[in-house]
Amino acid sequence: MSVTDDPVALNQWIACAYVGQVTPGKSYDTAMLGQAIRISCALDGTCTCHEIGDDGGPGRQLPLSQRFEILFTTLGDTPRQLPDIPEFAEADRRVANCASVGLHASPFRIVENFLDMAHFCFVHKDILGSMEKTEVFTYKTEHRKDVDEIWATDCAFFQPAASTSAAEKGGGQVTYYKYRVMSPFSVMLYKTVYGNAERDDAICLFIQPKSETECIAYMPMAILDDQSTMTQIIDFQQTIFLQDRIILENQRPVLLPLTPSAEIPTKADVSSIAFRRWLKGMGMRFGILQEQAA
Ligand SMILES: [Fe+2]
Repeated sequence: MSVTDDPVALNQWIACAYVGQVTPGKSYDTAMLGQAIRISCALDGTCTCHEIGDDGGPGRQLPLSQRFEILFTTLGDTPRQLPDIPEFAEADRRVANCASVGLHASPFRIVENFLDMAHFCFVHKDILGSMEKTEVFTYKTEHRKDVDEIWATDCAFFQPAASTSAAEKGGGQVTYYKYRVMSPFSVMLYKTVYGNAERDDAICLFIQPKSETECIAYMPMAILDDQSTMTQIIDFQQTIFLQDRIILENQRPVLLPLTPSAEIPTKADVSSIAFRRWLKGMGMRFGILQEQAA
């Protein structure tokens, strides 16, 4: 494994552990973008992060930032700012740290899967989708240049059991979504809260690309749910993600192609087209299938 030389990938804040994963007096070894790193936690709870050399010893110290129940670090000198997600500061929300899931897949395939509504009925049958109502309604996507993010809005889908609280009440509902790609390695959605027309649940996915084809996914949520236990909430989210993992680990090619003709888009894929165009525009090479010379 060698560290990438792609400056676009290097200049991102990347999730490297969830809060509580590194306990006082212990250290935790992991990797990002092909670089081995070690997070150490002193007895007073202060954490530090270092690159680890081939000899196993610590090298350059890296910055650490804690947000959304996650520790982030960066290998770059001028990283893109971490996103602002105000919902995590709202006092009446429950912040659920849904732990982490390791998977052998490209980080961008994971983002695209998160954006894709067409798979709900097949992969998350009877939970996020129903075989009787498979249509993905037309939605809008835009590149919000002021924040340099990709958004998909006006998304709607019939869901038999959209969340833990909705599943308990039963009957299914049309769920409204807004998707927000916050960086090449992080995406989130805003989703209808059952019985609350005014506010949305905020569900995030931060991806730690250990390499181009191996990642750890973190799923913090800031949700409005005073009924379910934290275990129920986490189990629901993990069940969904483990269903996705089977699909993701079997996608070919593993790396993401950016040539328009590489994979045939449908109208349901407009958010993925916008995401690919955005990656191409920023010059991302890490995790991208290199075009064959003609
Ligand atoms: Fe899924």
